[in-house]
Amino acid sequence: MKTQDIIVRPETPGDVKAIDVVNLSAFEGEAEAQLVGTMRQLPGFSPDLSLVAELHGRIVGHVLLTRVPLQQEGGRAVRILALGPMSVVPSQSHRGIGSALIQAAIERARALGLGAIVVAGHPEYYRRFGFEPAAKWAVRTNLRVPEDAITAMELEAGALGGGGRAVYPDPFTRIF
Ligand SMILES: CC(C)(COP(=O)(O)OP(=O)(O)OC[C@H]1O[C@@H](n2cnc3c(N)ncnc32)[C@H](O)[C@@H]1OP(=O)(O)O)[C@@H](O)C(=O)NCCC(=O)NCCS
Repeated sequence: MKTQDIIVRPETPGDVKAIDVVNLSAFEGEAEAQLVGTMRQLPGFSPDLSLVAELHGRIVGHVLLTRVPLQQEGGRAVRILALGPMSVVPSQSHRGIGSALIQAAIERARALGLGAIVVAGHPEYYRRFGFEPAAKWAVRTNLRVPEDAITAMELEAGALGGGGRAVYPDPFTRIF
């Protein structure tokens, strides 16, 4: 397989079952698959925010993107992008599919004019893409995950400068 064989694109209605299979195979349990299904039903959901990685006509990876407010002191809120859950089918891992999904997510965030991305989970994995501990900017979330599991990346210098609390929607806080 060559990296250029991987196509990353927004989901289509025909991808829904395959995305479910990818999430069920990559994660222990069903929580992430259900979360993706729930988010898809919410008003404001756009297929542009659910990217699939296709390899030789098969869906082998998926990442969900969610616009979240970064609530700052004084009542101000900055819109940023939350990345995840992200999944790659175990049989196709270590081939750059996750990396391709992250690069596409970064491009999507830029295209949407969002100044930063936040991620919950696997800080060692995300570091290579330029994500740093969110604590660096005093950025927190409303998720019940350890502080060091949260990483972030500025796409516009200073976007996270005011720190704040990234507020994920309810379907996330029900499981994390
Ligand atoms: C994490 C995941 C998305 C990576 O996908 P991938 O297509 O294998 O990623 P890439 O091929 O781009 O990168 C692979 C590299 O990431 C590293 N890596 C993978 N998972 C990692 C983790 N949990 N922590 C640290 N590094 C990790 C590996 O060392 C690997 O490097 P190598 O190939 O040189 O050994 C995939 O393994 C997966 O779906 N895991 C289960 C679900 C999950 O944990 N999702 C992320 C949190 S939401």
